[in-house]
Amino acid sequence: MAGGTEVMPLRNRGERGGPVLDLSRVSELSAISVEDGVRLGAGVSYTALLEGLGKGVPVLALAARTIASRQVRNRATLGGALAIADPSADILCALVAGGAEVELASLSGVRRVPVERFLTGPYRCDLGNEELITAVLVPAWGCGPAAYAKVGARNAMARAACAVAVVLDVERRAVGIGVAACAPTPVRALEAERFVAEEAPWGEGGELGERLLKRVGALVAGATRPRADGRGSVEYKRHAAAVLGGRALARAWRDRATARAGGCGTLADYASAFVPDPSLPAVDGAPKLKIDGAEHHLPEEATGDSLLRLLRDQLHITAPKNACEEGECGSCTVSIDGEIACACLVPAVQAVGCEVETVAGLSAADGELHPVQAALLEAGGVQCGFCTPGFVMAARDLLRRVPDPTDEQIREGLNGNLCRCTGYRKIVEAVRLAAAR
Ligand SMILES: Cc1cc2nc3c(=O)[nH]c(=O)nc-3n(C[C@H](O)[C@H](O)[C@H](O)COP(=O)(O)OP(=O)(O)OC[C@H]3O[C@@H](n4cnc5c(N)ncnc54)[C@H](O)[C@@H]3O)c2cc1C
Ligand code: FES
Ligand code: FES
Repeated sequence: MAGGTEVMPLRNRGERGGPVLDLSRVSELSAISVEDGVRLGAGVSYTALLEGLGKGVPVLALAARTIASRQVRNRATLGGALAIADPSADILCALVAGGAEVELASLSGVRRVPVERFLTGPYRCDLGNEELITAVLVPAWGCGPAAYAKVGARNAMARAACAVAVVLDVERRAVGIGVAACAPTPVRALEAERFVAEEAPWGEGGELGERLLKRVGALVAGATRPRADGRGSVEYKRHAAAVLGGRALARAWRDRATARAGGCGTLADYASAFVPDPSLPAVDGAPKLKIDGAEHHLPEEATGDSLLRLLRDQLHITAPKNACEEGECGSCTVSIDGEIACACLVPAVQAVGCEVETVAGLSAADGELHPVQAALLEAGGVQCGFCTPGFVMAARDLLRRVPDPTDEQIREGLNGNLCRCTGYRKIVEAVRLAAAR
């Protein structure tokens, strides 16, 4: 397991047990290097793709922004997405469009396979029993101007009903187009790629007309083999692929004049990436972690459990709530070494040696409330005991990163936290109030 976002819901439901090999402390898997293209370790998180790689690999950053919530993106990794091989996975769609390869290592050696060949069917991939996914290699052209368009049941926390990624190779006058959730695996729209290469007005200032975009959309839809599922009918998905195909190409084209011409920049472009700290101490002796400033031991019987179960069931720290154990509601949000996460998705062992903060530890020693808590009280944003702790943690995290957020940024910062009954208006007001102070 790497980020645990796929494995932990299964363990929480009792559908998967037994020992687990934790890859999160293998520092080589979090490494990023830039040569003729960019090599991203399999342990690189979606937050790293979004925050650090925005300048470096735009298509990955754009896709990562649509995935789940901040809490999930902080932990979920590239390697986990590749191994799970979900046909609707956003990052796989972007990797396919950018011509990326997977690097696989075993005792027999190292091999590289194009992502679209690595994905062999729904939730199936060409990963041998003894192999580890070590990295993803994005060629220099895959770092070019890009766009990502996705439709799902809602604006956030939604798996794609259909998604299209486009990357322009301006120098060679070519394009990569990936489509997700509309075939057994994310696929390349090869006919559409050929058509754009031949027919698009590549010269300076050339504009794409409506007819060309419509034709591209039809060719993208032609590359799909959708099946009806809970997210849409066959007709809906084909129609969505056609609309999103034209839309994504138009967006990438619009940016091509301003985008950096070719290449993946230098390592400095990635410097702001949040990469899980590879210097975490090795676990020897009795494993310990800090929770709200106090040191606790990890009891042996809790090693296979989630951090949430350790907190609530073993240590009786009940501030983080348990409402879904699937990463969907955010009520269990805690901060681990300064980055928020759903405690239900984090194996307790991954918190060893870390500082965990819960809402219970936010107020000062004299009882003075944290500014976010005070603002929630004042704005009438304190709702039920299930959702409020998670909202406080997510709002505090947002204001640390973005001290003066717009309403859109507030909504985005809180989109991993659900209220099933009251609403969000007062909570957004409270965050605005806390920011103003
Ligand atoms: C609430 C929620 C919402 C989500 N929303 C979206 C979404 O909108 N779009 C989307 O695309 N995805 C979404 N996901 C899926 C999730 O983010 C990805 O699948 C994630 O990338 C999995 O990575 P992980 O490191 O957490 O995997 P883990 O759970 O750690 O591992 C998953 C599997 O991969 C294997 N594995 C991990 N790393 C390696 C490696 N290096 N080599 C070999 N095998 C490995 C493990 O053995 C395990 O079987 C969502 C998940 C959750 C929980
Ligand atoms: S997200 Fe963890 S309990 Fe719902
Ligand atoms: S879930 Fe807490 S008020 Fe709606």
